Amino acid sequence: MTAMADWDPEQYEKFSSHRRRPFADLTSRVGASNPGVVVDLGCGPGSLTLGLAQRWPAARIIGVDSSHEMLAQARRNDTHERVEWVHSDVEAWDPQQAGAPIDVIVTNALLQWVPSHLQLIPGWVAALAPGGWFAMQVPGNFNAPSHTLLREVAAKSHRAAELLTRLRGSDAVSDPAVYTELLVGLGCDVDVWETTYQHVLDPAGIKREPVLEWTRATAMLPVFEVLKDEEERADFVAAYGKALSKAYPRRPFGTIFPFRRVFAVAHKRA
Ligand SMILES: C[S@@+](CC[C@H](N)C(=O)[O-])C[C@H]1O[C@@H](n2cnc3c(N)ncnc32)[C@H](O)[C@@H]1O
Repeated sequence: MTAMADWDPEQYEKFSSHRRRPFADLTSRVGASNPGVVVDLGCGPGSLTLGLAQRWPAARIIGVDSSHEMLAQARRNDTHERVEWVHSDVEAWDPQQAGAPIDVIVTNALLQWVPSHLQLIPGWVAALAPGGWFAMQVPGNFNAPSHTLLREVAAKSHRAAELLTRLRGSDAVSDPAVYTELLVGLGCDVDVWETTYQHVLDPAGIKREPVLEWTRATAMLPVFEVLKDEEERADFVAAYGKALSKAYPRRPFGTIFPFRRVFAVAHKRA
């Protein structure tokens, strides 16, 4: 995949309570009772990985991520040094590095950044021990205003071609049926579903553009990769923020941010 602008763990964790929910919904469908090795691909700041360590206290837990900033935060969060943090792009990560068959692979909110993931999943499932679990969650909101407006503002920029190319590379998500067919074909019992969360952001009404605050940490990263100049960035953010405020108006109780996500849990037959 193309190099990504720096991830900002602090910005990303601003909405941690909302971001935690899909991970909880995903992992609640993983039935492993006493796994030996658990891997979290694209572990980010590690808070959710540490939740896996709590759930399975006897397991070896490995968190893999390509961002030095995210891993540094993960190490700070891991005060008991419970997790093995590995710096790697998931495209290059070799499951053999775990040194043992893997019982659970979880990957939450990562694979939309990895256009080759349909080619990677078979290798990950092959690396699972018999009876192992693969669980993934990806956003499926690329036709929502948060993303269409990003592309619209990009299209009006004098850097439109570069911006649109970058933005196209970050929405590599397939229909749920594609994941179902792939995972069934790999010899798994499969549970695939989608959900649209109705996140209510900023109930206290203290943020000017709460949806912008959310997308700054994720969907906007390809834009920041292209626009390095502060003034160019500020102009872009102002135009996009204005459009977002219209699309996601503030209500007396907060700002509703609907967010569709796609989940797949596969249980490899023993
Ligand atoms: C949206 S965050 C998700 C973090 C965590 N899984 C969570 O749910 O909170 C995406 C993470 O994927 C990582 N990432 C993006 N592309 C990657 C790649 N090709 N290989 C490994 N990690 C990657 C980023 O550094 C970031 O930490």
